[in-house]
Amino acid sequence: MKRLFAVAAVAAALSPALAMAQAMPAGDATKGAATFKMRCGVCHNTTGTDTPMAPTLKGIVGAKGGAHSASFKYSDALKKAAPVWTPDKINTWITAPQKMVPGTKMMMVVPNPQDRADIVAFLQTQK
Ligand code: HEC
Repeated sequence: MKRLFAVAAVAAALSPALAMAQAMPAGDATKGAATFKMRCGVCHNTTGTDTPMAPTLKGIVGAKGGAHSASFKYSDALKKAAPVWTPDKINTWITAPQKMVPGTKMMMVVPNPQDRADIVAFLQTQK
């Protein structure tokens, strides 16, 4: 038990540093449009109409996850998790969707932090 507390204390002490390490670099929406097309566009669009593969991402920033599209059949996992899609949450999501919401149907990951920031900046323009 004592050990567990010690581990928790270390984790708590480290978490501000971790949060800083994960802070997003500034994103470029123009580059993000191209990156979005390449990395996300196979499945997603920002037109407001779902594709057969995935929910539309028009207006996704600030929306409630798993509920934004009225017509897309979301996984139970995403409906239950129901994240609010802040820019940070989208960044975490496209880093590793399966880690953030185990059981989600989305498999795509974007390893490069700058690419992620650009995509998030682009999505913020798609209201
Ligand atoms: C291979 C297809 C595919 C690709 C590529 C893909 N996604 Fe997805 N995405 C999905 C599916 C399917 C879901 C629904 C997941 C679920 O229901 O669990 C989803 C869900 C999402 C959601 C949540 C939508 C909502 O209404 O809650 C966001 C945000 C998202 N994707 C962003 C992205 C971004 C940004 C990219 C590009 C980096 C991307 N996705 C690439 C298939 C894809």
